[in-house]
Amino acid sequence: MSAHTHDDFDAAFHRIAERHERNWMFIAVSMIAVLFLAAVYLVVHDYGVVAKTSAIYSDPNTPSTLADFQGSGVRRTGADSYSVYEIGRAWSWTPGTATPLQLPAGAHVTFYITSGDVLHGFEIQGTSVNVTAIPGVVGRISYTFDTPGTYHIVCNEYCGAGHQAMIGTIIVAPRHASGAEQ
Ligand code: CUA
Repeated sequence: MSAHTHDDFDAAFHRIAERHERNWMFIAVSMIAVLFLAAVYLVVHDYGVVAKTSAIYSDPNTPSTLADFQGSGVRRTGADSYSVYEIGRAWSWTPGTATPLQLPAGAHVTFYITSGDVLHGFEIQGTSVNVTAIPGVVGRISYTFDTPGTYHIVCNEYCGAGHQAMIGTIIVAPRHASGAEQ
C-alpha cells in the first residue's frame, strides 16, 4: 500500500516536472528566436548601426581613383546630410590627417570608406563608427554627431610601422553655425 502511494506521487511529480521543463524550454527557444529575428531585422533595415559594403571592385586600386574620393572628400547631399569619402593609406586618413574633417552637429553623415594600400581599421573614437578599410572595397556607415567638439579617427588594425600614428581629426561645429550658410 505504501509502495503504491509512492508510485502515484512519483508519477504526479514527473508530470509536473515535465510540464515545467516544457514551459521553460519554450521560453528559452522563444527568446533565441526573438533575438535572431531582431538581428536579421537590423541587418535588413539599414539604421546605420550595421556597416555595409556598398561596392566591390576587381582591381583593388579602383576605389581610390574614383572621382568621389578626390578633393576634400566631403559632399553635401542635402540640407542636413553629407557624404564623406574616406581613404586610408599607410599612415594617414584622407580627409582627416593632413586637414581636419569639418562637419556640423546634427547632420546625417554617411561615410564611404576604402583603402589605398593595405587593411586599415576606420574607427571614430567615442562613436559606434568602426569599419575595416579594405583595398577594392567601399564600406558604408552612417552616423550623426549630436555633440559638437573634436573627434579622433584612429586606425584599429595593425598596418605597419606608423600604425599607432595613423590618426585623423573631425571637428564637429555647433548646429547653428552650419545652418547659417544655407
Ligand atoms: Cu592603418 Cu593601422
